[in-house]
Amino acid sequence: MLVNIKLALMTGLLFTWATVEVGMEDRVEVFRGDTAQIACMFTSSEGIGALTIEWFYVSFRPKIYKQDSTMKSVERGTQFTGRISVNGTGSTGELVLTITDVLLEDEVEFICQINSLTEGDGEGHTQLRVFETPELPSIERVHTGISVSNDNPSKIGSCEVKNGYPKPNITWYRDNTPLYNVPDEVSVLHLVTMESSGLYSVRSDLNLKVMKSDKDASFYCEVSYFVPGGTRMTETNRINITVHYTSTVVSMWVESPKGEIKEGDMVELQCQGDGNPKPVFTFRHNDIELDPDTTTLVLENVTRSDSGLYECVTMNFDTYEEITGNTSLFVNYLDDAVVIPEGTAVLSEGEEMTATCNALSSLTTQTTWFKNGEQVSNEHVLTLKDAGFDTAGTYVCVVKAPEIEGMETTGTLRVFVQGRPRISEPQSTDLEETVEKMVNLSCHARGFPVPSITWTSSDGQVQHREDGVHSVVSVKVTSDINAFCNASNDYGTDAVAFSIKAITHTTTSTTTTTTTTTSTSTTTTTEGSGVIVAVIIICILLLAILGSVLYFLYKKGKICGRSGKQDLTKEKSNKDNIVVEMKSDNTEEAVLLGVNGDKKPSNDQVDFCYLPPI
Ligand SMILES: *[C@@H]1O[C@H](CO)[C@@H](O)[C@H](O)[C@H]1NC(C)=O
Ligand SMILES: *[C@@H]1O[C@H](CO)[C@@H](O)[C@H](O)[C@H]1NC(C)=O
Ligand SMILES: *[C@@H]1O[C@H](CO)[C@@H](O)[C@H](O)[C@H]1NC(C)=O
Ligand SMILES: *[C@@H]1O[C@H](CO)[C@@H](O)[C@H](O)[C@H]1NC(C)=O
Ligand SMILES: *[C@@H]1O[C@H](CO)[C@@H](O)[C@H](O)[C@H]1NC(C)=O
Ligand SMILES: *[C@@H]1O[C@H](CO)[C@@H](O)[C@H](O)[C@H]1NC(C)=O
Ligand SMILES: *[C@@H]1O[C@H](CO)[C@@H](O)[C@H](O)[C@H]1NC(C)=O
Repeated sequence: MLVNIKLALMTGLLFTWATVEVGMEDRVEVFRGDTAQIACMFTSSEGIGALTIEWFYVSFRPKIYKQDSTMKSVERGTQFTGRISVNGTGSTGELVLTITDVLLEDEVEFICQINSLTEGDGEGHTQLRVFETPELPSIERVHTGISVSNDNPSKIGSCEVKNGYPKPNITWYRDNTPLYNVPDEVSVLHLVTMESSGLYSVRSDLNLKVMKSDKDASFYCEVSYFVPGGTRMTETNRINITVHYTSTVVSMWVESPKGEIKEGDMVELQCQGDGNPKPVFTFRHNDIELDPDTTTLVLENVTRSDSGLYECVTMNFDTYEEITGNTSLFVNYLDDAVVIPEGTAVLSEGEEMTATCNALSSLTTQTTWFKNGEQVSNEHVLTLKDAGFDTAGTYVCVVKAPEIEGMETTGTLRVFVQGRPRISEPQSTDLEETVEKMVNLSCHARGFPVPSITWTSSDGQVQHREDGVHSVVSVKVTSDINAFCNASNDYGTDAVAFSIKAITHTTTSTTTTTTTTTSTSTTTTTEGSGVIVAVIIICILLLAILGSVLYFLYKKGKICGRSGKQDLTKEKSNKDNIVVEMKSDNTEEAVLLGVNGDKKPSNDQVDFCYLPPI
């Protein structure tokens, strides 16, 4: 601490004749708790033995120390008792008062007084300064939003610094500019507290009339305080504030869907203002208020009537004016397809017709006609020329708006072509099935008006009639059966015959059937030998008759263009079967066959064709 003693700072070193000259520093600075040393330098023509040295402190100037040639004594009962000492005898002209464990109240002025018997008194003064570094400062922001429309400065935040000595200073900064009191704009309020320890705590509140730009500003405090030999500074963290300001511009837009809007879509409209906090809006359409106090308007399942201008409205609370934003919405539409002629068209064979398909839309459309999945026209007009059986069917027109994915509608037209029925050739008309089993016969007829289908069978089992184009009957096989499907309408008739061959158990071919029949006849011949002769004669006669009948038919050329011995024998064996059946089975079948044969000789011949050759 002796370093602090600077002769240059000495004052009062006035060399006058026959006086005691005393020199001391103006100031000694020290942290609380440290040791202070205060030097006192003097000159005197007298020897040290003639001097009395006393130390005092102001303001009541109590003596704290006395020394002369005979003794040194520290005064009892002062605040310094026990903490001070003075070294040196004074013979060198220099004394140092040492104060240990410096207290705040030690900050007084010390006086060193030299008394000489011959030269009178001389004294010097030194002010002791004591310092305490304050704690780190803190800052706190106001969390609520601050409106720019507040008339008076509003509190922004407060800073606090504790336990410093002497009193620290707090300075507020906005960004990097210090803030000082400006009437109606900035007000900084300091509150200084002296703690019981004698240290100072300072709290500072910043009040500001905020501007919109303050939303981006940062605020902080700087604390400055003295230390021995100078000043120091610390800073707080930076804070920002929430500034509330009203909107001046409102924008509105269609949030979803992006792009073209069609009927049935869910549309979301959004509004945004430039104020803080985000304003809420009232939506308007055609002067009707919708959904107040929100930022989003959702329109579900829009229709073309939802098209038009939409507005959102909010209030500017500074001017009490309405601020609006707007956007227009257009909802595209595609109506149901209208087909002319409507629903069905009935054509005569060879006739020509034109059909149209149209759908009202806000967009340009493309129309395509399809039949059975194949494109038949790529415009809205469908022309059918020279109507034939294949012209009939269902025509579908598809109307599309290519601009919008999935926007399409369809119409249908059923076309009927009048004409006699035509039965499509069944897969097989010659069937075989085990006796007692069921067999299904199916018949598919085309024609308009819708033909009625009549089923008949040789055994009379099936007598079925229905209206329609497709018919299936189940037949129980009891014996060989011929069945007929007859489709007819106003314009004519078509027929197809089925032949079902009954297969008895364990037998698979006609030959075995024949054997069975012969064996049956053999069992009958065991009656007597005379009978055998008669039977042989009858057989020969029958063969002769059969031969002539076959020859007659052959001549008529009606055996399906077939000829040859094998066929003839097969026909014969069939005839045999029929004969046997006629004998053994019911007579009704025979009647049926006969009736058919009588009524339609040509058809009868065809029936023969269908009889299985095996
Ligand atoms: C006074 O005493 C201190 C230690 O107690 C010493 O450091 C200092 O040099 C002395 N000063 C004089 C002038 O003797
Ligand atoms: C304000 O401060 C908070 C944290 O204190 C920070 O998250 C936010 O980004 C700041 N805002 C601005 C505008 O600086
Ligand atoms: C504190 O402020 C006062 C008044 O402006 C000034 O005189 C003093 O020097 C300041 N103290 C510090 C440590 O800056
Ligand atoms: C959409 O509106 C149409 C016509 O108003 C209605 O037929 C349809 O059911 C609605 N769909 C939904 C999902 O609400
Ligand atoms: C819609 O907003 C535009 C600006 O975005 C404005 O020029 C126009 O006048 C507004 N229309 C209506 C009807 O408010
Ligand atoms: C005949 O048709 C009926 C009903 O359509 C079906 O249940 C049966 O299995 C068919 N029989 C044969 C042998 O195909
Ligand atoms: C089919 O039936 C109709 C009426 O039921 C009849 O007039 C016609 O002669 C029959 N045709 C055939 C081939 O059986």
